[in-house]
Amino acid sequence: MLFDTHAHYDDEAFDADRRELLSAMPEHNVGLIVNPGCTVESSRTAVSLAAQFPHVYAAVGIHPENCGDFEPEHMDAIHALAKTDKVVAIGEIGLDYYWPENPPRGLQQQVLRAHMALAEELHLPVIVHDREAHADTLSVVREFPAVTGVFHCFSGSVEMARELLKLGWMLSFNGAVTFKNARKAPEVIAEVPMDRLMIETDAPYLTPVPFRGKRNDSTYVRLVAERIAQIKGLAPDEVERITWENGKRFFNIA
Ligand code: NI
Repeated sequence: MLFDTHAHYDDEAFDADRRELLSAMPEHNVGLIVNPGCTVESSRTAVSLAAQFPHVYAAVGIHPENCGDFEPEHMDAIHALAKTDKVVAIGEIGLDYYWPENPPRGLQQQVLRAHMALAEELHLPVIVHDREAHADTLSVVREFPAVTGVFHCFSGSVEMARELLKLGWMLSFNGAVTFKNARKAPEVIAEVPMDRLMIETDAPYLTPVPFRGKRNDSTYVRLVAERIAQIKGLAPDEVERITWENGKRFFNIA
């Protein structure tokens, strides 16, 4: 079975068919999904989806692009949600310097640190989003040596990957590795030991080739496994099996 470690079914792109789509996942060989939240509200939805579907688990947190109106009380809400059933990580958190209109960098860093401290307190792993913010993200990670996590949709260099592996972190890849212009990610995947890799879709975004441009969903995670298998010189079944085990171990799912 495939484990999609990062998909956003709280997104409005799934409003028309969320229930049917999620119910059918095990029939399509997708046996586990982690749905990270991006705001207090979407974290609440993630927790509720996890309560409704046995194969769905939740992560809770505030995405850097959504922290513009951050208030300390938001962390109280995330804290309370993090202690509910089937919450397996704090995320999606991190830094995003890509869009000029994103919240100020100092505020993003403050919100990231608040979530890292929460993860440390609750002994939960974190799901990190790092876009064009490699040095600053790595430096916050280093401030919290007791916290480990995954860089989702990892876009850093081979050198950065080595640093994270040394710190005990995981790296996760999605449909972006199937794009024609993907250069760095295949180099990184070639270097990362198989027991430190996870696969994801980031649905509804980043649909793998040849379905690029359509809405993404967890069934397409198979194409990510196939691309990694190609880079690693392994059978797709082997990548499926190892990333399944890695995901269960990382998120502490029995
Ligand atoms: Ni995401």
